Amino acid sequence: MSKRTEEHKRDSQYQQAKKQGYRARSAFKLFEIQKRFNIFKRTYYILDLGCAPGSWLQVSKKFAIENIDRYKDGFYHRDHFKILGVDIKKISAIDDIHFIKMDFSQPEFFDHVKSFFQGPKIDLIISDASINKSGNKFSDQVKQVKLCNSALVFVDLLKYKGNFVIKIFEGEDYKNFLNQLKKKFQIVKAFKPQTSYKVSNEVYLIGLRKK
Ligand SMILES: C[S@@+](CC[C@H](N)C(=O)[O-])C[C@H]1O[C@@H](n2cnc3c(N)ncnc32)[C@H](O)[C@@H]1O
Repeated sequence: MSKRTEEHKRDSQYQQAKKQGYRARSAFKLFEIQKRFNIFKRTYYILDLGCAPGSWLQVSKKFAIENIDRYKDGFYHRDHFKILGVDIKKISAIDDIHFIKMDFSQPEFFDHVKSFFQGPKIDLIISDASINKSGNKFSDQVKQVKLCNSALVFVDLLKYKGNFVIKIFEGEDYKNFLNQLKKKFQIVKAFKPQTSYKVSNEVYLIGLRKK
């Protein structure tokens, strides 16, 4: 796909997202992930790392609300949801969603998460967090993996059989990170949404069913 066609595709996806009330076209990536892996099944407590401007929070809220109505069978359900988003950039508020403006790699953030969810009860952790790319693929990839490692710490607060989604760049340390995930989840899949740029080395790793 030429650069021009990619730009056109990006613009029209952005317009489409806006029309549907989403803050970013990234919303479509999460819908694609959901369609393929059903990560939102029975999810009520959700942590979104690197959430600005907030489209993944909007999608998470939509599914959490649907789940409250859908799963009333007593197997595993909650009558409320709790969603926490964090970013170094400020976002405009979303009703019923808690936002913290900070760097999630700061150790204090772990305590914020723990007290917000009251223990290891998170159903789903999603991270679309991304470093500021310098254009140097090698160093960008190393930095992104470092950021992913900071996100991985929160898996300790994920419930048994909970799910995890994280954006990573393919390259040098990718395999190591993948192997770490495989130790923590029963199933780990790599997925490149249609909404991602074809030339980009970004890929999402989906960890299903925490061990
Ligand atoms: C691609 S955007 C996320 C888009 C979001 N998923 C949405 O749908 O609106 C990546 C975000 O990661 C954030 N980020 C990167 N490193 C971070 C860190 N250490 N702590 C918090 N946020 C971070 C950036 O500020 C940026 O807003």
